[in-house]
Amino acid sequence: MIHSAIVPVAGLGTRLLPATKSQPKEMLPVAKKPIVQYVVEELAAAGIERILFITGRGKTSIENHFDHDPELDRSLRQNDKNGLLSELEYERLAVHYFYTRQRWQRGLGDAVLCGENFAGEEPFLVALGDSIIGLNGHSTISRRIAEVYESERAACVIAVEEVPHELTASYGVVAPESEGDVFRIRELVEKPAPDRAPSNLAIAGRYVFSPVIFDMIRRVEPDRRGEIQLTDAIRLLAASGQPVVGVRLAPGERRYDIGNFRSYFETFLEFALADPDYGAELRQRLRRLCR
Ligand code: UTP
Repeated sequence: MIHSAIVPVAGLGTRLLPATKSQPKEMLPVAKKPIVQYVVEELAAAGIERILFITGRGKTSIENHFDHDPELDRSLRQNDKNGLLSELEYERLAVHYFYTRQRWQRGLGDAVLCGENFAGEEPFLVALGDSIIGLNGHSTISRRIAEVYESERAACVIAVEEVPHELTASYGVVAPESEGDVFRIRELVEKPAPDRAPSNLAIAGRYVFSPVIFDMIRRVEPDRRGEIQLTDAIRLLAASGQPVVGVRLAPGERRYDIGNFRSYFETFLEFALADPDYGAELRQRLRRLCR
């Protein structure tokens, strides 16, 4: 059983400027909730009990969001707004939160390395704080990769998603050894051009690692932008003969990566249209606007 997860949220989110000038991209709302709340709820549903956020400057609103706010609670009760208390139920998730700072934004591999002491000798999950899996975050992928980690005695399990072949240059891409929903991974390439991509299976922002990954991250050379890529560390792991396994997202379990405005707008719209209170009305309004 895997009890701990690392959620990196330290990136600068420059592709979403100016929205991210003074607020973390992981706190941007998608329909009614901030992105990172969907991520945390998915992890809690997978049985995760301890979450370490890898934060940075300007990210304290994430801490505040997951803290209990007694004043707000009191104000809602006193002002006859008890109905809204249910919106704060996520504050009671059975999760212990931990925070540490990545002092220099040296890439995702470096961010995960900041969690070494937290993980200790135990395997752990990594869930990117800017990626929601499944409409409204309803996905069992974290639980499934944790189960596969144990059943396959893997050193690393990665959730992967099929993407259009012409878009491989935006993702880390894996080379599977076989067909099927669960397969051994032979090789990984960060952002390959379509003609050099070993498949169209993209890394989907959820991983399970044995602590051996930390040694691999330390061996990775920074890329041209000075970033330590997590994909490079996993490649070293696979090359050293350790089992690296891929698990496909199920149909309907697509990844919403809120890294740029196109995907942010699309995701917001899709989630808002699915909202039980406002979706139907919004659909009509959109039809009128698109005429
Ligand atoms: P991205 O690769 O989207 O990087 O991060 P970014 O720096 O946030 O975005 P841009 O390119 O400037 O627009 C994927 C996830 O990894 C975290 C981010 O916070 C995000 O949740 N991350 C990235 C870190 O924690 N540290 C880093 O150094 C880089």
